[in-house]
Amino acid sequence: MNTRSRLDRMPEWAALGKHREQLGDTRLRDLFAADADRGAAYTLRVGDLHLDYSKNLVTDETLALLRELAAATGVAELRDAMFRGEKINTTEDRAVLHTALRAPRDAVIEVDGENVVPGVHAVLDKMAAFSERVRSGAWTGHTGRPIRNVVNIGIGGSDLGPAMAHEALRSYTDRDLTLRFVSNVDGADLHEAVRDLDPAETLFVIASKTFTTIETITNATSARDWLLTGLNAGQEAVAKHFVALSTNAEKVHDFGIDTANMFEFWDWVGGRYSYDSAIGLSLMIAIGPEHFRAMLDGFHLVDEHFRTAPPERNAPLLLGLLGVWYGAFFDAQSHAVLPYSHYLSKFTAYLQQLDMESNGKSVDRDGRPVDWQTGPVVWGTPGTNGQHAYYQLIHQGTKFIPADFIGFARPVADLRPRLVAQHDLLMANFFAQTQALAFGKTPEEVRAEGVAEELVPHKTFRGNHPTTTILAEELTPSVLGQLIALYEHKVFVQGAIWNIDSFDQWGVELGKVLAKRIEPVLLTGEGTDALDGSTAGLVSVYRTLRGR
Ligand code: F6P
Repeated sequence: MNTRSRLDRMPEWAALGKHREQLGDTRLRDLFAADADRGAAYTLRVGDLHLDYSKNLVTDETLALLRELAAATGVAELRDAMFRGEKINTTEDRAVLHTALRAPRDAVIEVDGENVVPGVHAVLDKMAAFSERVRSGAWTGHTGRPIRNVVNIGIGGSDLGPAMAHEALRSYTDRDLTLRFVSNVDGADLHEAVRDLDPAETLFVIASKTFTTIETITNATSARDWLLTGLNAGQEAVAKHFVALSTNAEKVHDFGIDTANMFEFWDWVGGRYSYDSAIGLSLMIAIGPEHFRAMLDGFHLVDEHFRTAPPERNAPLLLGLLGVWYGAFFDAQSHAVLPYSHYLSKFTAYLQQLDMESNGKSVDRDGRPVDWQTGPVVWGTPGTNGQHAYYQLIHQGTKFIPADFIGFARPVADLRPRLVAQHDLLMANFFAQTQALAFGKTPEEVRAEGVAEELVPHKTFRGNHPTTTILAEELTPSVLGQLIALYEHKVFVQGAIWNIDSFDQWGVELGKVLAKRIEPVLLTGEGTDALDGSTAGLVSVYRTLRGR
């Protein structure tokens, strides 16, 4: 039981509410006009990330009040407890130590009196040795041929992280290796992933923390069937073509995978915080151990920043506070993350699990209902595609949508000069959008262009849409690690303020249980009557359409 008083009864919360009223319809135009240095003053540097938060609806007073809220809600104390390995995931009685996954070799981080860092590095070393064997062709399949294809089978945190990072770091990958990701229990996913692969050259990486997740075990079983049929071989072929990433050695063994080919992690690594653990093996095979280590160093850099930077200069704290501010006092329901990099095409999908599975909660850590907004809907796709789709709604719709814009000064390596030249056009759009969102276009400005009066309202841009800009030189492995750690800790800050357990995910359980009950009904029809009226009707239609 934590004894913290309810957020909405705290004087710091009330002070923010009053301040919000005073701000009224304060315009970003006015804030910039009143302070020529605002752009520079509201900028932070963290590692390689240049973070400009000046286009947010905040003043010095707002920021001070938000920091007071962070202090009163014990964000720093909870952060320190997390880094110390205390069991801050109270509903699962677990430590939350993804930060240990990127700690240097000589760090000491204890869980239940045991230093976990040597174990982390032992697994990283084992992953590196294995990756090198696959990459060099030394690891051969059942028929003696080297592995050319790697298929990662996992879902949620056992898929999204490595899949996102593989896309993000594509230019760092060994292009002679094919890496694919299968997550959906829809058989089409596995079908499409393996249809043009030679089983003799294919390695399956079965990624599942629990090794009980139905989608993953079903796909892994079908993959084993595909492999053994294709090779016309028996169970003995599995050892050369299947490895497991898991915390559950028993289940891995039961599946038929040699536990010598299991890469371990621990219950203090949450699924959505796990891609820098053994769950990153397929990524490491693709980019090589050195780039993987550079990525871990990027994570660690931001961990240290979060742990030690003063509140005024603490980037994850700031981003978390901005989200709390908009959710509570502007009724923001969603948050857009808009990367201006083709390679970050899966970045927002990754953040959806990180943020929404962590902070999509409606009871506090003591189980009492919350009366305040918690995690937002996170969404977005890479620019400039979104500009020709949903940006209209952000600019002129009725919703209030804060957004993060993420861009890079340089395109990633090995583009043809002509394509390199396109980068300025991409980034011109990047800068233009945050400008348009912040400052809009007044009716007077529209009229001054000679626009007919009846069209003036249609061509006016209200502006005042808050954005945060994150700019880095180039999307390197380290920069990717820095970005992910930034968002991980932002999510942490928000959960701490909202007083929710950001590290459990009970909300995914009910659907799993019901699916297990419904599956036999689909097959036999028995039990249809016991279902609710809608589901019973749908199941009957489904069975008829399937010819049952
Ligand atoms: O969606 C629920 C969840 O438990 C996620 O938190 C997790 O990332 C995913 O399922 C996969 O779980 P596992 O790695 O145990 O297969």
